[in-house]
Amino acid sequence: MPSTLPDGDPVPSSGELPESALAGLGTRPFGFYVHVPFCVTRCGYCDFNTYTASELGPGASHADYAGTAIEEVRRARAILGGAGPRVETVFFGGGTPTLLPARDLVRILGAIDEEFGLAPGAEVTTEANPESVGPAYLAELRRGGFTRMSFGMQSAREHVLAVLDRRHTPGRAVQAVREARAEGFEHVNLDLIYSTPGESDDDWRASLAAAIEAGPDHVSAYSLIVEEGTRLAARIRRGELPMPDDDVAADRYLIAEEMLTGAGFGWYEVSNWATSPQARCRHNLLYWTGGDWWGVGPGAHSHVGGTRWWNVKHPAAYAGRLAAGASPAHAREVLGPEDRAVERLMLELRLADGFPLAGIDRPIVVARALGGGLLETEPFKRGRAVLTLRGRLLADALVRDLVG
Ligand SMILES: C[S@@+](CC[C@H](N)C(=O)[O-])C[C@H]1O[C@@H](n2cnc3c(N)ncnc32)[C@H](O)[C@@H]1O
Ligand code: SF4
Repeated sequence: MPSTLPDGDPVPSSGELPESALAGLGTRPFGFYVHVPFCVTRCGYCDFNTYTASELGPGASHADYAGTAIEEVRRARAILGGAGPRVETVFFGGGTPTLLPARDLVRILGAIDEEFGLAPGAEVTTEANPESVGPAYLAELRRGGFTRMSFGMQSAREHVLAVLDRRHTPGRAVQAVREARAEGFEHVNLDLIYSTPGESDDDWRASLAAAIEAGPDHVSAYSLIVEEGTRLAARIRRGELPMPDDDVAADRYLIAEEMLTGAGFGWYEVSNWATSPQARCRHNLLYWTGGDWWGVGPGAHSHVGGTRWWNVKHPAAYAGRLAAGASPAHAREVLGPEDRAVERLMLELRLADGFPLAGIDRPIVVARALGGGLLETEPFKRGRAVLTLRGRLLADALVRDLVG
């Protein structure tokens, strides 16, 4: 979740949603995102809405945060009304959710279950920095109903971690996966970053090999994005580090595909690979396929039935709104049918299942993409646009042409 908030329409202080949003609620999968906006230090590349101070004012300190987040869960129930939809997925992200005691994360999950009910077999994930958890912490999460851990490994090379300002040793993420497995987590993800300045092809191969060796059932691999206003952007501007190169990033992507496929992973979204369909992240799939979710926490974004809103950014402002009995939403937008169709194309074309050709309005661009080897031939004959490997490398440009 980037830290800059867009403008939008005002939200009533009750947070009440338009009727169009509530229509059909419960017929689409429903999830919760819980943002925890705290980190020990800020990594130089990171633009997420996170704070290194532990005292951010009443309701927003580490100690109070769970209670404040639970307040928003209760408001969500009041706004969505009735029995509320059952919750298929919950995702705690950050920041570093695991900076809070495990019992706080379990309490927030408990409130979601109490207010809405978790569906049988619900997926409950938390992100974690590898150095922030140990076996006892993981055991408490597992007992408390968490089913999936997502560790930020980023790289297995010390010098790459140093450029990224990461605090853990290369080996810690690998050990954390083993500990999570030992504590009964069936699903474990590792996040990796490629094309960091100073990283070689061999460094990237070593990171992938270490990640695979650790035994996760899911890997996310992202090209390093240089976000405006970060320490990394300043270092590049001053000439201390080179700008990541697009061609290098494309080569690294091909290496990831080759090594992950060789190890039994299959891509299911351009930046995500899993060892089986059951190992795919159901929460992210819900985002990418037009599902409904409520985002709890400062700066968190939500989407219900075509209405999108986002909370105030600072934890103190967020806690203050809730303490005053008001909605923490900062602004919102109601998407029309056309906006929703464009958004679904942008997200679903990145999935291995692809997008129905009938929903794409640009026959010439589609024909060019097929001729240029960006779309698979067999699915095309069955009426679906599915990216080839070359298409995955050029996905952003193709999507721009298709919606532009
Ligand atoms: C914001 S972090 C939160 C999880 C946790 N705090 C951590 O760092 O592991 C989620 C993931 O986003 C990815 N990420 C964040 N900023 C990025 C950037 N500028 N470029 C590429 N990936 C980024 C990283 O892979 C990271 O693991
Ligand atoms: S630990 Fe994660 S959320 Fe925190 S600053 Fe680093 S990348 Fe961002």
